[in-house]
Amino acid sequence: MFSLKNKHAVITGGGSGIGRAISVLFAKQGATVHIIELNADAAAQTIKEIEGAGGTAFGYTADISKQEQVLDVFKQAGRIDILVNNAGIAHVGNLEGTTEADLDRIYNVNIKGAYNALYAAIPGMKANGGGVILNMASIAAWVGIADRFAYSMSKGAVMAMSLSVARDYLADNIRCNSISPARVHTPFVDGFIAKNYTGREDEIFEKLSKSQPIGRMGKPEEVAALALYLCSDEAGFITGCDYPIDGGFIKLNN
Ligand SMILES: NC(=O)c1ccc[n+]([C@@H]2O[C@H](COP(=O)([O-])OP(=O)(O)OC[C@H]3O[C@@H](n4cnc5c(N)ncnc54)[C@H](O)[C@@H]3O)[C@@H](O)[C@H]2O)c1
Repeated sequence: MFSLKNKHAVITGGGSGIGRAISVLFAKQGATVHIIELNADAAAQTIKEIEGAGGTAFGYTADISKQEQVLDVFKQAGRIDILVNNAGIAHVGNLEGTTEADLDRIYNVNIKGAYNALYAAIPGMKANGGGVILNMASIAAWVGIADRFAYSMSKGAVMAMSLSVARDYLADNIRCNSISPARVHTPFVDGFIAKNYTGREDEIFEKLSKSQPIGRMGKPEEVAALALYLCSDEAGFITGCDYPIDGGFIKLNN
């Protein structure tokens, strides 16, 4: 079960955190993995890990917010069966704490970046008779999280984008779903704690862990396992759905 043998998968942001775990697991299951990364060194590390385990992976240094760069990567990569729109960036702030530049930055990566990869992937998937897309949303698209104005907006857009694509490409045998993680312990989390809560890192880490009723943050490998299922042939009946993976965050926080 859950074999990705003979599949080619593009994973954005595969150099770190959740994207890295997805890249490693998909390669382990037999996929040829194509990583689109801003950070070439990070991508190289993931590729080294994959190749060390006998897998196959290629890295492309590109900024997903730049359409030309993304189109160029897909041209180089060739046939693609799976797209995981994972790369994303954070911003902490309520509406008044969000400048126009902050909003544009979040929009350009989290929304336009996902659109750019979809725009590049769909024609090839149609021509090949189908494909699978998985977009990384967040529990911030489900519930109001304090001080996450721009980030929540962007993840709501990712969730709605997934529904639109799922609907429009049903007849093309393209499935499209999203995952909504609560806090997952990755460099993304460490980075925004360090940037926004300097000197209070341990206290905030503890608080963020406890905000999941299960009492801890998720692990990138746990998100990767759900991603594998949704991108495998075993999930052939699933499209147009969002899957929270949240330690009870959405339904049990009362
Ligand atoms: N970690 C969490 O708690 C959490 C929770 C919910 C959702 N998410 C989402 O999961 C995804 C991955 O998060 P993570 O925690 O693994 O992040 P991370 O910061 O550890 O990794 C993200 C990777 O994306 C790359 N990237 C960023 N901007 C890019 C760009 N413009 N072009 C190409 N690559 C780019 C970075 O270089 C980095 O390697 C994000 O979309 C994030 O919003 C994370």
